[in-house]
Amino acid sequence: LGDVYKRQAFTNKKPITLTTLGNFKKNSEKFTCLTAYESTMASVISESGVDIILVGDSLGMVVQGHDSTLPVTMDQLIYHLECVVNGNSGSHIMADMPFMSYSTDDLGLENAKRLMQAGANSVKIEGGEWISNMAQALSDRGIPVCAHMGLTPQTINRIGGHHVQGRDPSQKEKIINEAIALEKAGAAMLLLECVPGNLAQEITSTLKIPVIGIGAGIHTDGQIMVVHDMLGVSCLEKPPKFIKNFLPLIITNLFILVSNAAISNSKVRLLDYSNNTIGNITLSNFDSSYNIIKLKGIAHNNVSDTKLCTTISNEYGVKASTIELSLIHISEPTRLLSIADAVVW
Ligand code: KIV
Repeated sequence: LGDVYKRQAFTNKKPITLTTLGNFKKNSEKFTCLTAYESTMASVISESGVDIILVGDSLGMVVQGHDSTLPVTMDQLIYHLECVVNGNSGSHIMADMPFMSYSTDDLGLENAKRLMQAGANSVKIEGGEWISNMAQALSDRGIPVCAHMGLTPQTINRIGGHHVQGRDPSQKEKIINEAIALEKAGAAMLLLECVPGNLAQEITSTLKIPVIGIGAGIHTDGQIMVVHDMLGVSCLEKPPKFIKNFLPLIITNLFILVSNAAISNSKVRLLDYSNNTIGNITLSNFDSSYNIIKLKGIAHNNVSDTKLCTTISNEYGVKASTIELSLIHISEPTRLLSIADAVVW
């Protein structure tokens, strides 16, 4: 995560292009992708340094409340894409081609054109070798394509459920060969969903194009998550095992954003679980790998450093041992803000 955080907001972030993503791969630098469907979330995500924003057809589930991605239409996708484009500041915007929007070559070209004209930087299509022609046709016309393989939600009715793909040797070989074919056809990126980690690792090291994973282990070049899942508000009754609630980590990241935004004297009021004010801290620097969170400032006399560390650690999901406090304790009551207030502020 160190690499990722170093590229975040307030550091004159340059737009993320295919070249940037290719260089991440060359330099073995991991990159991040999150979904967004509207402008506020897109601006938070892009400003926090996420490299790719996917306007995914997962919007059918997390925004529209359907039980699959199939009902999403081109017009709806474009509406959400335009909202995201309005909030974006430099992330690469990838837009999903909805179910059946590329069922023929002509349809695919026309619909990809619409997405690019609405502000996408690349399009994502689900499928294996059968989408090679489409990938080539789009790429020839200057449209970068991300091929989505493994578990492809648009074919959920054929697959019969959210199962890991590529476990048995013949399926594994097929996925590897199709990934190679797609790269040859001109795909600019590959996304692997729900495949065994060792398969994703093999494909990542075989292909020159960046490989993004979701539920595909830790060895892909980039990782993607549906933002609702990441925030712990997944609509799925039985969320897949790979879904992790990153909210505490995000809040830690927001600490960093705040400290970057207002380097000196950014006062943050801390509240404990019972809403008691327990400290008034100034966010100072974080070390370069962000393994240590350094906080300095003023705390109440009646709150020990240990209690502050435990509270921060419990509330924001960071290890108490990574928090370094340097606080002056005072006796007079101070009106304090919560971290969330500080972020809005
Ligand atoms: O639509 C989407 O959000 C996706 C991700 C699950 C990768 O395709």
